[in-house]
Amino acid sequence: MDRSSDRLDGDREVAEADVASAFAPASIGNVAVGYDALGCVFPAVGDRVHIRRTHTPTVRIESITGVVTDLPRDPVKNTATKGLLRLIDERELSFGFALAIEKGVPLGSGMGGSAASAVAAIRAASQLLDVPLAPDAMFRYALQGEAVASGALHGDNVAPSLYGGLVLTRALDPLDVVPIPIPERIRCVLVRPHMAIETRAARRVVPDAVPLGTTVQHSANLAGFIAGCFQGDLDLIRRSFDDVLVEPHRAHLIPGFRSVQAAARSAGALGCSIAGAGPSLFAWCHGPDTADRVQAAMVEAFANAGMETDAWTTGLGETVS
Ligand code: HSE
Repeated sequence: MDRSSDRLDGDREVAEADVASAFAPASIGNVAVGYDALGCVFPAVGDRVHIRRTHTPTVRIESITGVVTDLPRDPVKNTATKGLLRLIDERELSFGFALAIEKGVPLGSGMGGSAASAVAAIRAASQLLDVPLAPDAMFRYALQGEAVASGALHGDNVAPSLYGGLVLTRALDPLDVVPIPIPERIRCVLVRPHMAIETRAARRVVPDAVPLGTTVQHSANLAGFIAGCFQGDLDLIRRSFDDVLVEPHRAHLIPGFRSVQAAARSAGALGCSIAGAGPSLFAWCHGPDTADRVQAAMVEAFANAGMETDAWTTGLGETVS
């Protein structure tokens, strides 16, 4: 394969004739208060896809390297390639794609790895089209990959991975994606225990119906969180940072969850909840010193629960491309 990695310069995308590559960052679905609708980028890690245009309208995975390699090679079953098959079909392309996937996002971590692969793949493929895709079209194709992973169409990982920042996916059809401002100096801590949770399994524990009072509190928390972001009101964000809808049903899947969450809050986090479907936990913090304390407290609490971890802290404003 004519790998374009030799011509990469940092995260810059490269397209020359029939090869291209693109990076897409990890992301945190739900952000505690917006199940399947709200997501924020987590640019500390991500996936990269190198792609080559081929002569037949098919998709082939040539290699998978990085922190995850045991992924389906069948393009129908791989999150990176499902959207490319749809692209070829819908646009009746006369050519296809061969891919090399570099995984930087751990599998089953709640860090939006499926979306990162799907977004990186469609961004790379877009560069090889006669007319590149608009971002919203990329979103639709990348969403196909998410369906492979979780069995459902939800945009809370694809949206921030593609657009960056904090994003509300208000509706998928027609697509209605709303960027939400993130107050200055917010740092995001993410701690991943060394275990995996399959998104499909974590979705099965969420009940189909919840009491009206729960949805009222959930709506109020989401509205308060969004208002706090627009107003830069950190205390409102803190008061609203409470997942009454999904977290109670998933908490038992994560060893030490309640003590890690309590440790993050005691160390000064604005809030702490499950990243996507878990098992990673994330916390929003104001300023780097608080973030350092929160990260240390979460790592220690997981250790006390017998879990080894990886931990990252990053700002959320960086746009990764
Ligand atoms: N909103 C999805 C869920 C995110 O919580 O199941 C999966 O990463």
